[in-house]
Amino acid sequence: MWGGRFASGPAEIMEEINASIGFDKRLAPQDIRGSLAHVAMLGEAGILPKDDVAAIQAGLKTVESEIERGEFVFDRALEDIHMAVENRLTQIVGPSAGRLHTARSRNDQVATDMRLWVRDTLDALDAQAADLQRALAETALKHAGTVMPGFTHLQSAQPVTFGHHCLAYVEMLGRDRGRFRDARARLNECPLGAAALAGTSFPIDRHATAAALGFDRPTANSLDSVADRDFALESLSSASICAIHLSRLAEELVVWTSAQFNFVKLSDGYTTGSSIMPQKRNPDAAELIRAKSGRIIGALTGLMIVMKGLPLAYSKDMQEDKEGTFDALQSLSLCLAAMTGMVRDLQPVAEVMKRAAGSGYATATDLADWLVRELGMPFREAHHVTGRLVGLASKQGIGLEELTLPAMQEVEPRLTDAIYDILGVENSVKSRTSYGGTSPVNVKAQAERWLQELGV
Ligand code: ARG
Repeated sequence: MWGGRFASGPAEIMEEINASIGFDKRLAPQDIRGSLAHVAMLGEAGILPKDDVAAIQAGLKTVESEIERGEFVFDRALEDIHMAVENRLTQIVGPSAGRLHTARSRNDQVATDMRLWVRDTLDALDAQAADLQRALAETALKHAGTVMPGFTHLQSAQPVTFGHHCLAYVEMLGRDRGRFRDARARLNECPLGAAALAGTSFPIDRHATAAALGFDRPTANSLDSVADRDFALESLSSASICAIHLSRLAEELVVWTSAQFNFVKLSDGYTTGSSIMPQKRNPDAAELIRAKSGRIIGALTGLMIVMKGLPLAYSKDMQEDKEGTFDALQSLSLCLAAMTGMVRDLQPVAEVMKRAAGSGYATATDLADWLVRELGMPFREAHHVTGRLVGLASKQGIGLEELTLPAMQEVEPRLTDAIYDILGVENSVKSRTSYGGTSPVNVKAQAERWLQELGV
């Protein structure tokens, strides 16, 4: 395709390092869509005769169906998907196929193909993230009143509900989806027609091709059009943040399913056994989700490093955007699907979580709040008094609620029987009614709000 000024072909190793067909063949549907839009525009603008346009369109459809049926031969000598499609088109249509490449270059072509692929993928990820939100919000509604320990520093802090914990992830995924949509909105400009880097002297209609491909408008600067990979970076960065969220939940599942915690049970469908230890049920899917976040973040940092310092406009370095982007966004898709399956199936072990919620003096803050509310004590003093009561209980190796009233009154004589109500975990969560707090009433309302928003 570009051999006019060359006396001999590329060295074997040159071909190997240069070719992208092995991975950019995935862009075939987008490449053909772009070519169909381009050739239709060339016809409308009077740049190509109508019969050539019709022949090229028919030829492209044939190529498309050959690819769909798996009959297409992806030959490394043809370098990339753009040349492979055009080469086959030439075999089908004859020399007039060569007119398709009027007023365009592989530089604007690949930028267009990648944007189309990333756009479709972001839409699919958004829908998958919504599925996971649904699964989590449904679990939250079911467990609006199921008490568990809330942690800071992975130390029991204050009781919360399992539903509240699930909804924390629904919020994170809501922001992830917002980022997917923001990235999509910014990427939705069409580089096609920027040609190699400078635009073209042909009277093309870039608004028409942009509209035909579902873009909001054409990109405004031809250099930027072929040099820009922000859309991939932004998508990878949104994907990385989402992957971080999934890996945090995955880590919690790993911890919670351990025999030491036993807070939740995963289904058989989402656990594996050990070939030597018959008692084992391993949370492999959760571990792999945790690990794949590394791979996704790796693709983002990899591409950032490819792009930094590249002079305008196109450099072949940019061909390296593809494998990482494909792999990362597909890995995220797999992680979202696996997490959704795990969440749908998981069973919290309510008694164990409740028992754990009461251990570690998790209701100490409730006691301090009671001293403030009922006795008018300044919070700092109440904190100190409570600290002494915790010390007393801990010295005896018992819970706060097991201290006798006379023992407590030695620390603070104004304490009454009413304090025992406060020390129960159920009452503790019930009292957290501030907006965004963990009370079952709040959790139920928030879960219902989300489910309505998610169209359940
Ligand atoms: N395979 C190339 C890529 O992925 C297509 C663009 C090639 N452009 C060029 N000037 N060699 O980036």
